[in-house]
Amino acid sequence: MKILVTGGAGYIGSHVVKQLGEKGHEVLTIDNLSTGHKEAVLYGKLEILDLSDKEKLREVIKNFSSDAVMHFAASIEVAESVENPLKYYRNNTANTLNLLEVLQEFGIDKFIFSSTAAVYGEPENVPIKETESLNPINPYGKSKAFVENILRNMSNAYGFKYVSLRYFNVAGADPEGRIGESHNPETHLIPLILKTAKGERENIKIFGTDYPTPDGTAIRDYIHVEDLANAHIVALEYLLNGGESDVFNCGYGHGYSVREVVEAAKKVTGIDFPVEETDRRPGDPAILVADNSKLVNNLNWKPKYDDIEYIIKTAWNWELNKKF
Ligand code: UFG
Repeated sequence: MKILVTGGAGYIGSHVVKQLGEKGHEVLTIDNLSTGHKEAVLYGKLEILDLSDKEKLREVIKNFSSDAVMHFAASIEVAESVENPLKYYRNNTANTLNLLEVLQEFGIDKFIFSSTAAVYGEPENVPIKETESLNPINPYGKSKAFVENILRNMSNAYGFKYVSLRYFNVAGADPEGRIGESHNPETHLIPLILKTAKGERENIKIFGTDYPTPDGTAIRDYIHVEDLANAHIVALEYLLNGGESDVFNCGYGHGYSVREVVEAAKKVTGIDFPVEETDRRPGDPAILVADNSKLVNNLNWKPKYDDIEYIIKTAWNWELNKKF
């Protein structure tokens, strides 16, 4: 099949491009390279293009005539979204609207969307089911929730078919070490811990030790990027086989506290790096854990790497041998 991937040079997109390529699909990546890396695109062609450029987008989509689209291109930092909301509504919402309009012009009606657990805000029920109400508490989560609403309306109005995947905490790297996470600045827990282990940072700060959790630190559902990429493959197959529009949580269904992740990283790296306990980071919920039964049961998703030490091991291998 011919699959168009926006943001295919980014962290998650590049792992999906790799799996699509390995499965023999013809892939075209669109990326503006604002945060992505051209070396990360292991299969297919790369078209350097910003989704705000509707004319050029139209031309690319016309020439490629894809069977489905996977849309990763987005800005992803919660704190930045609070400081610069317009960037998020432009990049994540308005540019997605451009893309959707052009897809409609060319009759492309299968779409996989990168959504986020941030659409839930501070959920009332944990593990979180897809039926939990959407109460995003920052512009990042709102910019993604807007798109989910647009997709639902399109599906009802035009017979457009989409799958929205709500990612929990994505981590790890290609087990063969070819691609991995490379954000600048980095804000995510596991890469920051590993930069500390490597000696690039003075210490790792634990944001908050007074949460209502067993050890007082926040709990997250860390999912290996390879398993997340595979969720995109099963979602694609589902849509190509005539599946209806739907929304799925992507996580393992259980979490680790910040302290547990720090301890696991000490074990994996063999390095006793410095840790500092500080105040909570504003806007961080205590516990975010997915109920993943819908993805497992409806799409027959079979995760392979549900193991925090393995996740950290692949991320550590990448951190030590980064290609970009
Ligand atoms: N944390 C620290 N120290 C750090 C960095 C993070 O203690 O230096 C803690 C955070 O407070 C949080 C946990 O580690 O409790 C994980 O933090 P991350 O920044 O790695 O990830 P988040 O859970 O904040 O964010 C992730 C995604 C977002 C998405 C969000 C959904 O990266 O894109 O989940 O709520 F919006």
